[in-house]
Amino acid sequence: MRERWTWRGAFVVAAVGSAVGLGNIWRFPYVVYDSGGGAFLIPFVIALLTAGIPLMMLEFTLGQRFAGAAPRALERAKKGFEYVGWWAVLCGFGIVTYYTVILGWSLRYLVGAFTLEWGEEAGDYFFGRVLQLADPGQLAGFPLDTLLPYIIGWICIFFIIYSGVKGLGRVVMVTVPLPFILILILMIRGLTLEGAMDGMNFYLAPDFSAIFDASVWIAAYGQVFYTLSLAMGILIAYASYLPKNSDISNNAFMTSFADCLVAFLAGIAVFSTTGYMAYQLDVPVGEVVASGVGLAFVAYPEAISLMPVAPELIGVLFFITIFTLGLDSAFSLTEGIVCAIMDKFNMKRSQATVLISVLAFLVGLVFVTRGGLFWLDLVDFYIMSYGLTVVGLFTCILVGWVYGADRIRGYINEISEVYVGIWFDICIKFITPIILTVLLVLNIYENIISPYEGYPGWMQLVGGVIVMAAILIVGYFFMKARTREAEEPEEGEVS
Ligand code: PHE
Repeated sequence: MRERWTWRGAFVVAAVGSAVGLGNIWRFPYVVYDSGGGAFLIPFVIALLTAGIPLMMLEFTLGQRFAGAAPRALERAKKGFEYVGWWAVLCGFGIVTYYTVILGWSLRYLVGAFTLEWGEEAGDYFFGRVLQLADPGQLAGFPLDTLLPYIIGWICIFFIIYSGVKGLGRVVMVTVPLPFILILILMIRGLTLEGAMDGMNFYLAPDFSAIFDASVWIAAYGQVFYTLSLAMGILIAYASYLPKNSDISNNAFMTSFADCLVAFLAGIAVFSTTGYMAYQLDVPVGEVVASGVGLAFVAYPEAISLMPVAPELIGVLFFITIFTLGLDSAFSLTEGIVCAIMDKFNMKRSQATVLISVLAFLVGLVFVTRGGLFWLDLVDFYIMSYGLTVVGLFTCILVGWVYGADRIRGYINEISEVYVGIWFDICIKFITPIILTVLLVLNIYENIISPYEGYPGWMQLVGGVIVMAAILIVGYFFMKARTREAEEPEEGEVS
């Protein structure tokens, strides 16, 4: 028997946990500020409705209807589609190898937060003391400061996945609401600081001309795909543990709504604090805004150091937030892979978990080395700009056109509360694939005209080719490997 979620709502909570991740706190706020402030919410909501939610419903349906992780679900929809499923799984594998490294950094900072160890020069602390950064292209050994927490991160993920869907259902009861509550606290703290309103102005002051800027729309669609954890095989795997008659459309709306809410609130927390920092340092807000690693490990810690009351407490809360935000995204990625391996080789969960955790742990060691940050950036860049778009594109085309968007919609409407109209077919067959193609072409173009700064050219080339070739080749071998079917008979194509 296939494992099942043990309580009503466990699936949605787990899906929210996967969607709500580091992207919500260090990507969304910055993209908003950078792409028209409050006015960005218009393209964002449109992207959500025309691409994010339809693709999410599609993934939920595939998982639930065909009771399998991405490769099996796609294969059961139509013979040969399995290959794309393996791409998704391998992209997920690539991401989890470095996502866990970042998780490790947040643990390291959590310890440092008790004494505000980073002081006022968090940049030196991060790159010099914690990462002990070497030149690009080098490996140059492991700093204990990053190795130890990395190991702890993997131990957490291992035990959570090992405990099965039942265990997952329990863990997400904590790892999903906790960062939400903490973000609320950080938000209130931020808003009650001087200068907070300048920060908020920076974040949300609408620039409506942005709506006529194509790059803003691209940013909106890109952010939607990323933040909803689409095209990585995760949601398919999670949905495969649902009973056949579970609601789809309502669940998809709830998951995306919760994700957006957290992102929006995280933006308030981040920008109010940034406004305070600018006020304290007497510089314009624009000079202290940051995104990505620079926000979480440099800018925000520096702002914490400047805080008037109990900065240590805020530091601890902030890094617990980062850790719990990242943890459920990281184990959702791992579950997507483990689930696919269990399906294909009829392996026990325990075996598949050991296999995947050890393998991903070993590969991820590259990112733990002193030169690791450069490799991390590179792999992140390639998987996010090529992997995600290609997988999403093929899924939409194969399922939308070959299998039939109308059949997916028919299934959704049979079992869901919210009726889904013909717009779903239009989104899956036209809008989403067109947008993904545009994203893909633009990424390639940008990559050619402005190569990644600061990297030796060879590294960029080697990194890109290795990542993409590995996905295609390994995916092929997985597809060709003999499927070991167990108790569940092949459903084949059911019309
Ligand atoms: N959705 C996650 C976030 O917003 C990112 C992510 C993407 C996680 C893909 C897993 C897989 O941080």
